[in-house]
Amino acid sequence: MEPLIICKNIHKSFGEGSTRTTALSGVNFSVNRKEIRLLMGPSGSGKTTLLSIIAGILTQDIGECLLSGKDINHLPDQEKTDYRGMYIGFVFQIFNLIPTLTCMENVAIPLLIQKVPLKEALERARSLLNDVGVFDKATFFPNKLSGGQQQRVAIARAIIHSPTLIICDEPTSFLDLITGNKIMTLLKELVTKKDLTLVVVTHDPRIMPFADKIDYLEDGKIVS
Ligand SMILES: Nc1ncnc2c1ncn2[C@@H]1O[C@H](COP(=O)(O)OP(=O)(O)OP(=O)(O)O)[C@@H](O)[C@H]1O
Ligand SMILES: [Mg+2]
Repeated sequence: MEPLIICKNIHKSFGEGSTRTTALSGVNFSVNRKEIRLLMGPSGSGKTTLLSIIAGILTQDIGECLLSGKDINHLPDQEKTDYRGMYIGFVFQIFNLIPTLTCMENVAIPLLIQKVPLKEALERARSLLNDVGVFDKATFFPNKLSGGQQQRVAIARAIIHSPTLIICDEPTSFLDLITGNKIMTLLKELVTKKDLTLVVVTHDPRIMPFADKIDYLEDGKIVS
């Protein structure tokens, strides 16, 4: 089967003239379906830039990036946003939960964007919070939860709309060892149960045992 992600010869720079920074120079990167892929490398090596290009948040200068055979970076803006909303879930280092919404409401957001009726969206959110082990926090505001609990809520939000791809940027770096392991175990379980593909950027060597394959970026190039 064709890989879910195929990036070929990706180049990306920021800025102009003397402030120009090359973030990626000729990256080739493919990820198979249902794979857990880690992307590691020093700070500034281009990891977040590559994730952003895969997700259609940034557009590469040169090269091609296909997701399920589709070049999302060259879709019109609205189509790109819709595609991202349907097929990709995001989990970041900072949990990015909306502080004025309850956990349940936060999790329901991707469904509401897809015009699922509010009552149904909230019911599904509640049930998924149960799956990720924070059922009792459904009606709490995020600031009442621990870091690990907030990350569980963020994962629930990332997967509620059954995306094909979950992109995680440093999902465990603010978490202690045990909580970080629990979060990765949960993500791994979801990959198996829901046929997800997971790309995780991390500095955290504790995540390495969860990976099917690890790639290293250095100075904007894949070095292994
Ligand atoms: N919006 C931007 N404007 C200018 N330069 C940028 C921008 N985003 C990234 N860069 C530069 O591109 C390079 C790669 O950045 P990137 O954020 O991809 O690194 P990273 O590997 O994710 O680092 P970290 O591990 O610290 O998160 C860096 O030199 C960075 O300064
Ligand atoms: Mg980064």
